Amino acid sequence: MLIIRCVEPNDIFPVIALAFETLPEPYNPSIFTQFYESYPEGFLVALNFDTIIGFLIGIKTTPNTARILMLAVKDAYRKKGIGSALLSRFLKEMKHQNITGVELEVRTSNQGALKFYQNQGFLLQGTLQQFYQNGENAYSMRKEL
Ligand SMILES: CC(C)(COP(=O)(O)OP(=O)(O)OC[C@H]1O[C@@H](n2cnc3c(N)ncnc32)[C@H](O)[C@@H]1OP(=O)(O)O)[C@@H](O)C(=O)NCCC(=O)NCCS
Repeated sequence: MLIIRCVEPNDIFPVIALAFETLPEPYNPSIFTQFYESYPEGFLVALNFDTIIGFLIGIKTTPNTARILMLAVKDAYRKKGIGSALLSRFLKEMKHQNITGVELEVRTSNQGALKFYQNQGFLLQGTLQQFYQNGENAYSMRKEL
């Protein structure tokens, strides 16, 4: 049974483990607690019964703009609609908070995620050179709410 809800303190360690497993960027574990403390409305988890199988972290960058920093689903659970469920819950929450635009970046090599975000109505804005720690470029994307 799939549940999407806001993060709780006990979720932080499993989310860090999932980020380590699914995302190439080497995030400092302490930032996950910082995101939880600074903007819990933007930090969502997906659970299969009691197990965390996905998460999304977004922040508010201006009074009416939000930015998705991380979105990941455990490998074995992909292409089952869980990423879409996390994203639509986040967009609904942002609309509720009077956010009018959501931005994000995606690695130019990550064609799967690019396709995923385009399916969800995000438009390509441009390319950011050497955006990631390993020197890789990013596509910037935006969706109006
Ligand atoms: C990107 C990601 C979050 C998508 O999650 P997901 O649960 O697999 O996504 P969904 O099942 O909701 O997919 C929705 C649609 O996106 C598209 N899509 C998702 N992953 C895709 C892929 N790898 N290649 C092509 N299309 C893809 C599908 O067309 C799907 O449409 P469908 O319903 O017609 O099949 C997941 O692949 C992931 O965790 N990737 C690794 C981390 C990552 O790259 N995060 C994004 C950058 S931060």
